[in-house]
Amino acid sequence: MADASVTSNDQHDPHTTDAARHHDPAVRGFASDNYAGVHPEILAAVALANGGHQVAYGEDDYTGHLQDVFRRHFGPRAEAFPVFNGTGANVVALQSVSERWGAVVAAESAHIHVDECGAPEKMGGLKLLTVPTPDGKLTPELIDRQAWGWGDEHRAQPLAVSITQTTELGTCYGVEEVRAICEHAHERGMVVHMDGSRIANAAATLDVPLREFTTDAGVDLLSFGGTKNGLLFGECVVVLNPDVARGVKYLRKMSMQLASKMRFVSVQFEALLAGDLWLRNARHSNAMAERLETAVRDIDGVTVVRPVQANAVFAILPRDVSERLQKRYRFYFWNEHTGEVRWMASFDTTEDDIDSFAAAILEEMAKR
Ligand SMILES: Cc1ncc(COP(=O)(O)O)c(C=O)c1O
Repeated sequence: MADASVTSNDQHDPHTTDAARHHDPAVRGFASDNYAGVHPEILAAVALANGGHQVAYGEDDYTGHLQDVFRRHFGPRAEAFPVFNGTGANVVALQSVSERWGAVVAAESAHIHVDECGAPEKMGGLKLLTVPTPDGKLTPELIDRQAWGWGDEHRAQPLAVSITQTTELGTCYGVEEVRAICEHAHERGMVVHMDGSRIANAAATLDVPLREFTTDAGVDLLSFGGTKNGLLFGECVVVLNPDVARGVKYLRKMSMQLASKMRFVSVQFEALLAGDLWLRNARHSNAMAERLETAVRDIDGVTVVRPVQANAVFAILPRDVSERLQKRYRFYFWNEHTGEVRWMASFDTTEDDIDSFAAAILEEMAKR
């Protein structure tokens, strides 16, 4: 007989909580798309998956169903492995296509190189071979600066290329650019990984289906981003070419990325990808970045220094102006040396946010 003293989820009043709100939900800034909260449709999906018991560690009905959702976007051979975060997705994905003697060619600006605390090297045992780029994008020619020395036991063997879409510098690879990289890498026996932390923003920019610049262009495996596009948390390693990736499920556990209550990660991806929420959110954040660029580009003393092809705007303006602005809105210096700042738009950035921020920039410039 059930223990009557245990309150079931169905009887629990969801509006009763001992937690208090500790922040002002009207405050938004431009520091990162990770500063945003959770899209209401995602939160609703998490609530939908709540209640009752489901098998843990990915054997649940939500994770099973998610495979169909990913296959609709990436083709019948795709297999998705939900993980906790983007660093974990990258480290798991890259390990699955490398060897202990392997190296990964990446742009010098790649997140795996500059923003993962050395996790690919330390946790994944992967040597990164990086190349400076003007715009965050690799090309076949740039890859060749590091892709050499096969058979030489003194050199870590270049076995994979990793590209980021959209890039850390707010730029977007075109379909043909991805295809050229894949052809070049494959001819040299290397596999291609895409860090798609902002892949939805790329689809919105290119206005093509996701598979056109991934599976169909030759990308072998993907870190599919959810957090920056409205999820509470969660990313997926998506194997697009199962002929080259080995042991993803073991590597995920070894890399501490196996969620026991995986249904709550998977249901978020279903809510994001089964309909058009992923694209709506990405189109919106891209549009807000474009609005910001338009609002600031004619301000005397403000220079937008990179093409705005997704949801980021990079600009140089007088340091004292940036520092005063930072007291009003959160954002980061991208390059302390040059004074370049990065402004990111999110799925929940409003037109008013952009217009008020642009007005604040004008006000601070006028104080000089
Ligand atoms: C290009 C890129 N890749 C991956 C990540 C994922 O990082 P995290 O481990 O913080 O989820 C980020 C987050 O900033 C990113 O910008």
